[in-house]
Order: sequence, then C-alpha cells, then structure tokens
Amino acid sequence: MDALLVSYGVEWLNLLVRWLHLITGIAWIGASFYFVWLDNSIRPPKPGSDLAKRGVSGELWAVHGGGFYNPQKYLVAPAELPEELHWFKWEAYATWLTGFAMLFIVYYFNASAMMINKDVADLNTWQAIGVGLGTLVVGWTVYDVLCRSPLGKREGLLGIVMYLFIVAAAYVLTHLLSGRAAYIHVGAMIGTMMVGNVLMVIIPGQRKLVEAMRVGKSPDPIYGKKAKQRSVHNNYFTLPVLFIMISNHYGMTYNHPYSWLVLAAIIAAGALIRHFFNLRHAGRVSLGYPIAGVALLMAVAIAIAPRPIQPVAPVTPVAKADSAAGTTAAATAAAPAADIAHIQEIISQRCASCHSAQPTQPGFATAPAGMILQTSDQIRQHADKIYQQAVQLKAMPLANMTHITDEERALIGTWYAAGAK
Ligand code: HEC
Repeated sequence: MDALLVSYGVEWLNLLVRWLHLITGIAWIGASFYFVWLDNSIRPPKPGSDLAKRGVSGELWAVHGGGFYNPQKYLVAPAELPEELHWFKWEAYATWLTGFAMLFIVYYFNASAMMINKDVADLNTWQAIGVGLGTLVVGWTVYDVLCRSPLGKREGLLGIVMYLFIVAAAYVLTHLLSGRAAYIHVGAMIGTMMVGNVLMVIIPGQRKLVEAMRVGKSPDPIYGKKAKQRSVHNNYFTLPVLFIMISNHYGMTYNHPYSWLVLAAIIAAGALIRHFFNLRHAGRVSLGYPIAGVALLMAVAIAIAPRPIQPVAPVTPVAKADSAAGTTAAATAAAPAADIAHIQEIISQRCASCHSAQPTQPGFATAPAGMILQTSDQIRQHADKIYQQAVQLKAMPLANMTHITDEERALIGTWYAAGAK
C-alpha cells in the first residue's frame, strides 16, 4: 500500500484512540475524584439513629441534575448484599489499554523521530522501545514491592521514597530518550502503577470482601486497608499524570536541559494542590499547600524562562576560515544575509520535509501541528513560532533529523530580531 496512505491511516488511528483515551480517562478520574470527595464529605449519622443502627458510618445529601441524592457509606458492608452491585473498573482498564496503544501509535511506530535524540543518547529503535516498555515493568515492580515491604506501613515515608523514585526515573529517562518521550514514559509509568493498583489490589480486595459476605463471614479488614493505601496513592498521582499527558504541547518544559528537575517540581506542585483539595473536602482549609504548589510552578516558570538572546552575526564555516586568515572584511561580505530568501532556503531544507502540504518525511502524512512552511508568506506569518521552536528552544527540527546547523539557527535569530521581514 502507498506509504502516504498508511501514515494517513495511522493519523486517524491516532485521533480515534486518543479521543477514546481521553473519554475513558475522564470517566475514570472523574469517578475517582467523586468518590474521594464523597469519602471526605460524608458525615456520621446521629448515634442511636436508624441509620447508625443499620451500620451506616456516614452519609450526605446532594442535589444534581434536578434530583436529590443521599449516598450512605457502610462501615464494612450492609447486612445483606444488594442484588446489583456497581463496580468501577473498566474505566481504569480502558484508559490503560488506550494509553498503551497510544505509546505504539505515537512513539514506537515512529521511534527514530519521536523517541531518539542522538544528542541525548545514541540509541537505536529497539533500544529506545526497550527502554520505554522496560520503564513500565520496572516501575510497577518497584512500586508494588515498596508498598508490600515494611515501608508500606509508614505512609509519609513511603510517599517520599515514591517521589524520589519517580524523580530518579525522570532523570534516567531524560538521559536516554528525547525529552518528550521521557516525559510521556514517566506519565505512562505512573499511570501503569495506578491501573495496577486497581487490577491487582483494589478489585481483588473487593472481590474477597464480597465473597466473605456471600458465605456469611465477616471479611478480613486487611483487604480494605490495602485497597485504601493504593487508592490514596492513586489520588495523589492524578494531577501529576494529567500534566504529563498534556506536556507534549509544551516544549519549554521537556526540552529544557534540566527537564527532569522541571518535571520533579511540577509533580510536587500537583501533589501539593491535590492535598489541599483532600483536606478541604474533609472540612479543613490549609491554604499553605496550594500556595506552595503555585509558588513552585511560578519558580519553575521563572527558572526556565528563555534568556533574551543577542542576535549574533552568523559565522559560516567559510567565514571562519577567512577570519582565521585575517580577512575580516571578506568574512562579513561572505556571510549569508539574514534576508527572507535565505531563511526560506534554510526552512525548505531543514523543515519542509515535515512542514509542507505533502510531507516527504516517512511517517508524516500531513504537516505536524498544521504548520506549513513553504512560501515566504507562510514563513513570515509563523515567524514567532519558528523563532521560538528553532532558535530559543531548539526543539525543531524534531530530533534534529534534518541536521540544522547552529549557524543556521543563529541566522534565523538575526532575521527574527531584525523584524522577520
Ligand atoms: C521530522 C519532522 C519535523 C521537522 C524536520 C521539523 N518539524 Fe516542526 N514539528 C514536527 C512535529 C511532529 C510537530 C508537532 C509537535 C507537537 O505537537 O508538540 C512540530 C511542530 C512544530 C511547530 C508548532 C509548535 C506549536 O507549538 O504549535 C513549529 C513552529 C515547528 N514545528 C517549526 C519547525 C521548524 C522551524 C523546523 C525547521 C527548523 C521544523 N519544525 C522541522 C516535526 C518536524
């Protein structure tokens, strides 16, 4: 089949699976937010009341969508199992499955462009994919062992160790893969831990609970405790993971030389903000947490702000040789002018293989990000973004697949500084 048609088909697959991933993710995280809120917001019934006698440990009233709701939580379980019991698990599984598929569609099928950055590490396709998949397996294994170890009994310490483990993973991955792939794999690793918790601990625990009830035994509280521990972790993972899932749009974070530290700070901010909401639902307002979280985000924003660059006179290899010979005047004359004709030449050589109406780069059916850079008008129109991506962030060309030189980047900088005419 025509290669263009194949990558066009993959583009649609990308769209549909991403859409599904988003939908199932919203269903999962939404339900999980709701239950955390519910758990923190219910209040115990009056002692001696009918509800208390029935074993209800907490309840609340809510109005939504034109109706009144009165959920009640039973301490262990109701005296009799209801005929129909709703489980919440397919949202989590479907989110993981679609996310895993996205790893293949976006990253593994196009590893040379999307995962490998030869300036970071000289990996081949299989090594890069191995690092990606290995991260998910190692991440879950380490996390699960930690939770089951004696450390698992010490919530706060376990939280700190987990955080350090995730930061270490970010450090290693950003030194092996492109920044963007490194970030998404930290997210996929945490997401795998979350779904692993549902599949391997929370749901089996609930099954044990229901089974015990069915045969009329009182269930072992250990299952409830273990499930609770994992569900608390999942709760703190949500905001950091959601950031990572959208991070691929923000090259300023994952392309920074200290991208792992940037990620470490953003993850900490997410967890702090989540902590505030958890406390608030339970009736405690501790503004210190969100203030610390926002301050951390602001500190990151300031720390990674692009420095205004001095437009340097471009030095071509030829000019270098000339100036070495002492003919500076000749060098200046030989230096290419930062005019649109020259910029267009650079862009058509270094960018247009992807950024054109019909890309010639294998794996690209349409211009990425809808950015077509063929005519001089298109180049002028997108000058800000070209400057940002190719000069400030050096995020483009993607993985520098087209081997743009520093001189060419500098020339784009000079052209931009002179008004991008
Ligand atoms: C190998 C393919 C490839 C090459 C070559 C390439 N790009 Fe890109 N470009 C991409 C992809 C993929 C994206 C989308 C990235 C994303 O969604 O985060 C993109 C996005 C962009 C964006 C949009 C960013 C945004 O925030 O909307 C700009 C601007 C850009 N590229 C400029 C350039 C310039 C300038 C060059 C040449 C110096 C270049 N690209 C070369 C693949 C390429």
